[in-house]
Amino acid sequence: MYKIIKKERLHDTIYSMWIEAPDVASSVQPGQFIILMIQEKGERIPLTVADFDREKGLIRIVFQIVGKTSEELSTLKEGDKLYSFIGPLGKKTEIALYGKVITIGGGTGIACIHTIARALKEVGNEVISIIGARTKDLIIMEEEIKKASSKLIVTTDDGSYGRKGFVTQVLKEILDKDQSIKKVWTIGPAIMMKVTCETTKPYSVETIVSLNSVMVDGTGMCGSCRVTINGETKFVCTDGPEFDGQLVEWSEFANRLTRYQEQEQKSWGIYHKPTHTCRYGKETE
Ligand code: FES
Repeated sequence: MYKIIKKERLHDTIYSMWIEAPDVASSVQPGQFIILMIQEKGERIPLTVADFDREKGLIRIVFQIVGKTSEELSTLKEGDKLYSFIGPLGKKTEIALYGKVITIGGGTGIACIHTIARALKEVGNEVISIIGARTKDLIIMEEEIKKASSKLIVTTDDGSYGRKGFVTQVLKEILDKDQSIKKVWTIGPAIMMKVTCETTKPYSVETIVSLNSVMVDGTGMCGSCRVTINGETKFVCTDGPEFDGQLVEWSEFANRLTRYQEQEQKSWGIYHKPTHTCRYGKETE
């Protein structure tokens, strides 16, 4: 069983948890993910590792409430235990000395970019990070990303904090001025990653995306996470999660992300079914 050592609320709907998982912490690398289950019959949630502490055997996860299981996860307390916590899964980020690189995080993708930016900086790259969200409250892990980068630029769609606008506008400004950018990593909503790739294409800068497909087993057996890359079928869980963004079939990817929407809404409705007090004073559904 995997104990929740520390829990923090980063925003109304975003939580950070440090989980005791020494087997995962001993071998995890930037870019990899875990799949957790709250209980034996529960849903499996894939989450990119936001941080790790090998000495203490801890893994940090950051998640947003988007449905029934993530909401249930948010109700757990420090000391509670998860039924399973499998990982590290997926391929690690290709960390090498490239020179000047850009890492971009949007929404909870900010947490996912953290270990990648840090590792790139540790090997000597100049790392410019751009993080963005709709509004100020949704900017998470700013201090950690700042420390992991050579330079940090924050954007908000509504201008409530940092630069007003999208991360891709800042990216374009940098690419216009600086021809020495060697590679870009981007993690966030599908539309943000797609627009990032469209932005970098005219400059021929390699752009790596981390895809967050719907997963079931996480081991390449079920096919749930399949995507088309350069005309070929790939599994995000075993071939990814990182791919060359210019080769992703984005419309198919976006469609597949919503294919369980009906079931998700049904499950959410059942979870939120109002409870009432019966005439014997006992809480019942
Ligand atoms: S999650 Fe089943 S094949 Fe990837």
